[in-house]
Amino acid sequence: MKLLHLDSSILGDNSASRTISAAIVERLTTADPAIEVDYRDLVADPVEHLTIGSFMALAEGEELKQFLEADIVVIGAGFYNFTIPSQLKAWIDRIIVKGHTFSYNENGPVGLATGKRVIVGLARGGVYNADSPRAGFEHAETLMRGMFGLLGCDVEVIVAEGIAMGDEARRVAVEGALAQAKRIAPEAVGAAA
Ligand SMILES: Cc1cc2nc3c(=O)[nH]c(=O)nc-3n(C[C@H](O)[C@H](O)[C@H](O)COP(=O)(O)O)c2cc1C
Repeated sequence: MKLLHLDSSILGDNSASRTISAAIVERLTTADPAIEVDYRDLVADPVEHLTIGSFMALAEGEELKQFLEADIVVIGAGFYNFTIPSQLKAWIDRIIVKGHTFSYNENGPVGLATGKRVIVGLARGGVYNADSPRAGFEHAETLMRGMFGLLGCDVEVIVAEGIAMGDEARRVAVEGALAQAKRIAPEAVGAAA
């Protein structure tokens, strides 16, 4: 089984999402030590913005190949200016490829990246959950759920929020997310069926 692990926080050792994504990967690889992990730090090793040239060649892209080969994708994402880091968006722009990860029929888009589990560890400075006054500003969890869902993937999102609201709020939020990471199902999509 293959696991692709991506990180996209610019905050290095101070990153909450990197801590959470690492805990998710640890949970999965402890449960199944045979999992083969590919890691990419999208800040240290960035994907360039799309150009017409790279857009026309998407089907041959390394990012698409790695994504399609992975059974599980674990993504660490900070909440930057109301959405995901642009480094992660640049990677996403390489994997949404018509005829490979989605197609269209008379009812609209159809996901082709089925049987894949995507687990996102998301860290938000403020509070944007569905019951909060700022829920309408949340464009990271909604984007990840919507986009990977459209591609046909099973999507889980572990959120730590209130990271910027003081040391105690950060500690509680990260601890809560790490506890959730320890409880995630340890198998690939369909493995338990
Ligand atoms: C460039 C930048 C933009 C940010 N924008 C927001 C924002 O719009 N809303 C918010 O609540 N927090 C914002 N924050 C705070 C981050 O969401 C918080 O630091 C979170 O922990 C980021 O994840 P990371 O620690 O993995 O990088 C921002 C932080 C940075 C560095």
